Amino acid sequence: MGRLRFGAYLFLAAMVLIISGCGHDSGEKTASAAGQRTTGLTEDEISNEAFKKLFPLQYNSYKKNEKMEDTAYGGSEKRSKYEADKEPLLPILFNGYGFATEYNEERGHTYALEDIRSIKRITDKSVGSCYTCKSTAVPKMIEEMGEHYWGANFNKEIWPKGEAMGHSPIGCSDCHDPKTMDLRVTRPSFFKALKAQGVDVSNPTKNEMRSYVCGQCHVEYYFSAKNSEVTFPWTKGFKPEDMYEYYNTIAKQNGFEKDWISNISGTPMLKSQHPEYETHMSGTHGKANVSCADCHMPYERVDGKRKITSHWWTSPLKTMQTSCGQCHGDRDLDKLKDRVLEIQEANVSALHEAQEVSTTSHYYVNKMITSGVNKDIIKQAQEYVRQGQWYWDIVAAENSAGFHNPQGSMDSLRISIEQSNKAIRLATEELVKKGVNMDELDKEIEKVKKAVLEEKVNEKKKDMAVNSYFPAQAPLVPAVPVKK
Ligand code: HEC
Ligand code: HEC
Ligand code: HEC
Ligand code: HEC
Repeated sequence: MGRLRFGAYLFLAAMVLIISGCGHDSGEKTASAAGQRTTGLTEDEISNEAFKKLFPLQYNSYKKNEKMEDTAYGGSEKRSKYEADKEPLLPILFNGYGFATEYNEERGHTYALEDIRSIKRITDKSVGSCYTCKSTAVPKMIEEMGEHYWGANFNKEIWPKGEAMGHSPIGCSDCHDPKTMDLRVTRPSFFKALKAQGVDVSNPTKNEMRSYVCGQCHVEYYFSAKNSEVTFPWTKGFKPEDMYEYYNTIAKQNGFEKDWISNISGTPMLKSQHPEYETHMSGTHGKANVSCADCHMPYERVDGKRKITSHWWTSPLKTMQTSCGQCHGDRDLDKLKDRVLEIQEANVSALHEAQEVSTTSHYYVNKMITSGVNKDIIKQAQEYVRQGQWYWDIVAAENSAGFHNPQGSMDSLRISIEQSNKAIRLATEELVKKGVNMDELDKEIEKVKKAVLEEKVNEKKKDMAVNSYFPAQAPLVPAVPVKK
């Protein structure tokens, strides 16, 4: 099928040559002031289709994002993360929060609007910030609405406005200036966060821009307490430890303490998001100045001679030759792929272990609460639970299954297991003092896990995570800020 399309590329490539050759068709004009060629599009163009005629090769490449095909650990099918080979304990671990109702694997950019529209985490309470990494209308909306954008009602105000503006899912104008096609950053939170780290963002290099455009969205963030503004917790660094410290200091001082309260352990929890940028930057490739585009947007030949930058943002394991081959051409690419799978397997198996221990820690703390253990000791155990979960979640939410930074991800999982185990040890000491039957407790945990795993309806799994032995500890908070 790729072959069949090839003919079309050839034809379109020829068209582009003709257009550029004549210089008077399809709005190809020359900017008189700078002497720079412009597209003839206006600065405010937000429709992907408007770019189609001018850049048919890149546009067609972009359309490949509609394809759905999974790899061993990644890929582009819309699948629930609760499935047995993914992370089946999540309805327990996120209990009390929207992520215990619906949480899916990510897929192609072209689906961003469709997916946010249909996800059950969006409710009548959701805010504008949820829209920020999905739509081409965002920069203009922020310009028009100012500070009000972030906290504005998603369903009532933001979505209808985006539709009226003719929004596209993540598109050309999100990364390119429509007039000049220069790369640009359109989401203000990114440069704000880099500046807070002391990075000079006034004149980024072309290579930096090849990662910056992705770093606008593929990052950890939270909604500020003041106005729900999308904020990146980067001031202390990119490592999971640095971001945790940020949350326990700077974020707290500014009024942000938690994303939600665990319904199992009553712990004020943090929910981590897709920190691809941070993880990559701290890994081997990031430190060697390899950019996101190097692997995810390789140069490809579309007509036997013309090279374009691929706009199919997907797993590089589908394009090893053009992605990895450009730098690792001396290596056997099949072996290199095996190496990636080995790294991912080790990470995912450590992740599953960390999630098991974390689950136990939540239920042990539940038992501390119902057994009347001293509140200060419970608080201490909850701090361990919170850390235990943060350090696996930051790895689980990252979409490379460990590849972007194999060592860093393993370190984080190790800390996670240590912290969850501290909660379990502290709880055990107290529960034994209270005369709790520990064998029975462990059996009840196995029972409740089994009930969650066996429930077929994803939305109902969370309800199986609490019962009369493990009563709910927090009222179900409306799933506010939907982070994806
Ligand atoms: C050295 C190559 C390389 C670089 C550089 C790189 N990635 Fe990746 N990325 C990968 C590989 C390999 C995977 C795993 C794909 C899989 O499991 O199928 C991946 C996975 C992903 C995924 C999940 C894809 C999927 O199919 O589920 C996302 C999203 C992603 N990377 C974003 C980024 C971003 C953003 C950057 C820059 C901050 C970046 N990557 C830098 C190689 C790279
Ligand atoms: C997520 C960011 C992103 C989006 C969205 C995006 N591009 Fe690009 N585009 C890039 C990057 C990165 C490059 C490489 C630029 C470089 O290395 O200087 C690029 C390069 C290009 C080029 C230069 C020629 C080439 O092939 O290298 C054109 C033309 C282009 N893109 C068109 C488009 C069109 C049309 C769309 C919308 C359908 C689009 N881009 C969407 C990031 C993006
Ligand atoms: C405006 C925000 C935004 C920007 C900019 C952006 N992404 Fe994404 N990206 C997303 C969202 C949102 C999704 C998930 C869409 C869904 O699941 O509906 C996604 C998904 C992906 C995926 C997963 C695709 C799959 O098949 O599973 C990859 C890979 C990816 N992005 C890479 C990149 C790279 C590389 C860049 C920079 C060149 C980039 N993205 C820039 C928001 C963005
Ligand atoms: C732009 C160049 C570039 C691209 C593209 C690239 N790499 Fe690398 N890769 C490097 C560099 C540089 C190193 C570090 C080499 C060193 O320190 O010896 C490296 C190291 C590695 C290592 C060893 C990492 C470690 O931590 O020991 C693996 C495995 C690897 N790359 C796999 C891949 C895969 C898989 C892809 C494609 C998805 C890829 N690379 C794409 C440049 C690249």
